[in-house]
Amino acid sequence: MKNNPKALFKLSAFALSQVPRDRKPQVAFGGRSNVGKSSLINKILGQKRLAKTSSTPGRTQALNFFEIDGRYYFVDLPGYGYAKAPKSVREQWGKLTDEYLSESGALSGMVCLIDSRRDLTDYDRHMFEWLDDNEVRYAIVLTKCDKLSGNKLTQAVRRINSVVGNDVIPFSAQTGKGVQELWKWIRDTVQSAK
Ligand code: GTP
Ligand code: MG
Repeated sequence: MKNNPKALFKLSAFALSQVPRDRKPQVAFGGRSNVGKSSLINKILGQKRLAKTSSTPGRTQALNFFEIDGRYYFVDLPGYGYAKAPKSVREQWGKLTDEYLSESGALSGMVCLIDSRRDLTDYDRHMFEWLDDNEVRYAIVLTKCDKLSGNKLTQAVRRINSVVGNDVIPFSAQTGKGVQELWKWIRDTVQSAK
């Protein structure tokens, strides 16, 4: 692999007004709480702790922006479906993410993370529908696939492909599986952004 891109933590946005508006493309990473968003971002950037990971679900509470090679952003979105958070906090996360996705106008693509061992939730399906309706380019990444046998993984990919026709990329932050394929998708997405 070529050298890791230069990645800098830019800011945490707790309100839509704090989202960067410098016209650099933004690629968001979304999925349910604890699915492995922050671990994936660290892995593909070759960093250990740039994005904060935690075994406690619901850790990422803001929209965290990382500037990549000074040219575009990664956005680590708060995880959805973390039932244990207080209702007011849950609503706030959902509201900010919804506002960002629908109103910021800066989103160039989305990496949707699904735990390879789990079924799609209604929220996942709803997200795909929304992305389709809004013509946002997206890839589906199956996380933690080091925990599945090859056979089970093939079944998981088929299961998703029976619902959505998008690229499905098996990924593991532990073994590095899928890193190259995901980068290819990200580079294509950033290049095709206006
Ligand atoms: P929130 O920010 O809370 O929504 O979570 P997140 O989606 O950012 O998940 P995070 O990256 O913090 O990972 C959650 C847990 O899953 C941590 O304990 C990670 O070590 C573990 N994990 C993440 N990716 C992998 C993987 O590829 N393989 C395995 N085995 N564990 C993983
Ligand atoms: Mg996180």
